[in-house]
Amino acid sequence: MSDLKKIRDEFISKLKGKLDLAELNQIKSDLFGKNGLVSSQFKKIGTIDVSERKKFASDLNIIKDELHDLINFKINEIEKANINEKLEKEKIDVTLPERSFVRGKIHPVSQTIDEISSIFSEIGFSVEEGPDVENEYNNFTALNTPDNHPARDMHDTFYLDEKKERLLRTHTSPVQIRTMLKDKPPFKIIAPGRTYRSDSDQTHSPMFHQVEGLHIDKNINMGHLKGCLNYFIKEFFEVKKIKMRFRPSHFPFTEPSAEVDIGYEIKDGKIIIGEGDQWLEILGCGMVHPNVLKNVKVDPTKFQGYAFGIGIDRLAMLKYGINDLRAFFDCDYRWLNHFGFDPLDVPTNYRGLSR
Ligand code: PHE
Repeated sequence: MSDLKKIRDEFISKLKGKLDLAELNQIKSDLFGKNGLVSSQFKKIGTIDVSERKKFASDLNIIKDELHDLINFKINEIEKANINEKLEKEKIDVTLPERSFVRGKIHPVSQTIDEISSIFSEIGFSVEEGPDVENEYNNFTALNTPDNHPARDMHDTFYLDEKKERLLRTHTSPVQIRTMLKDKPPFKIIAPGRTYRSDSDQTHSPMFHQVEGLHIDKNINMGHLKGCLNYFIKEFFEVKKIKMRFRPSHFPFTEPSAEVDIGYEIKDGKIIIGEGDQWLEILGCGMVHPNVLKNVKVDPTKFQGYAFGIGIDRLAMLKYGINDLRAFFDCDYRWLNHFGFDPLDVPTNYRGLSR
C-alpha cells in the first residue's frame, strides 16, 4: 500500500470516531500543518520519478481534498451544534417583567435657580459665580462692614480658622466685590449660590441659597430697582399683579436700604401670592454704598446702582408649596420624587414657550 493510501485510510478511520473541536484541530494540523503528513508529501513531489510524478501529485491532491473537506465538515457540524445549543438555552422570555430603573429628578432649588436665571437674563443680567469658601475681606470688609461692626455678629458666621480670615460666605454679596474687582463698569449681574449661617429651624437651615443682583451704571436709581424687582416677582410667580412693599432697613453695603415683602393670603390651605393682607419678607436690597464702590475702584461720582439679595429657598417653598425648609436638604428620595422636576421639563418662565 502506498504511503498516501496509508495516510488516507488511517485518518479516514480516525475521523469516523467521535471527536471534539480540539481533537479535530489537532488532526488538521497533523496533516496540513507546516510539517504535517500531507504537507510533507507535497514536498516529496520533486524527488519522485518523472514517470510516476503526475499520478502521485494527482492522488495526493485528491486525498488532500478528501481529508480537508471531511475535517472542515466535522468542525462545522460541531460549531453549528454549539450555536443551536446556546440558542436553545438563551431563550428570551418576553413575558418577564421589565427590569426596574430609577430616574433622577431635578431638585426644586436647582429648578428655581434655573427659572430665576432665565427671568433675569431676559432683562440683560448675566450670571456670575463665586466660591463658597470666602475670605473675610470680600464677605465683610469690602462690603463696608469693618471689624467689630455689629452686622458681623448678626450673620452667625462659620469661620474656618482661628484668625477669622477664611469663612463660609454668609451671603452672595461677596460676588459683587469679585465681579467689580475683575472688570470695569457698567455691571449688570446676578449671582446665585449656596450661603451659610449657623442657624437652624423650620425656616432657617445652616446652608441655604441666595441670588445676588447688582446693576451699576451711570444714572441708575431706586426706581430702576423697584421696577426690576416688580418685574421679577411677577414673572417668577406667574401673576399679572403683585402686592409689594419696600420697608426701610439697614445693610452696611447699601444706602438707602430696604427689605421687600410680598402680599399673600392663604385660601383653602393654599398660599395665594399677590393678594390678601399678609406680608412675607423675601429679599434685602438698596443703592450700593459709595464706600463699596470706592473699595473696588469704581468712582461713585460717576457710577451708581442697586443691589439685592433674594432668598432662593423661600421662593421655591412658596412657588411649589413646600412647608419645611429642612426637607430640601434631607436627601429623602421619596420627597425628591414628589417635589422634583423631570430633566426635560421646560421651566415655565422661558418666554415664547409658555406665552
Ligand atoms: N446680603 C444681604 C443679606 O444676606 C442681602 C442684600 C444684598 C441686601 C444686596 C442688600 C443688597 O441679608
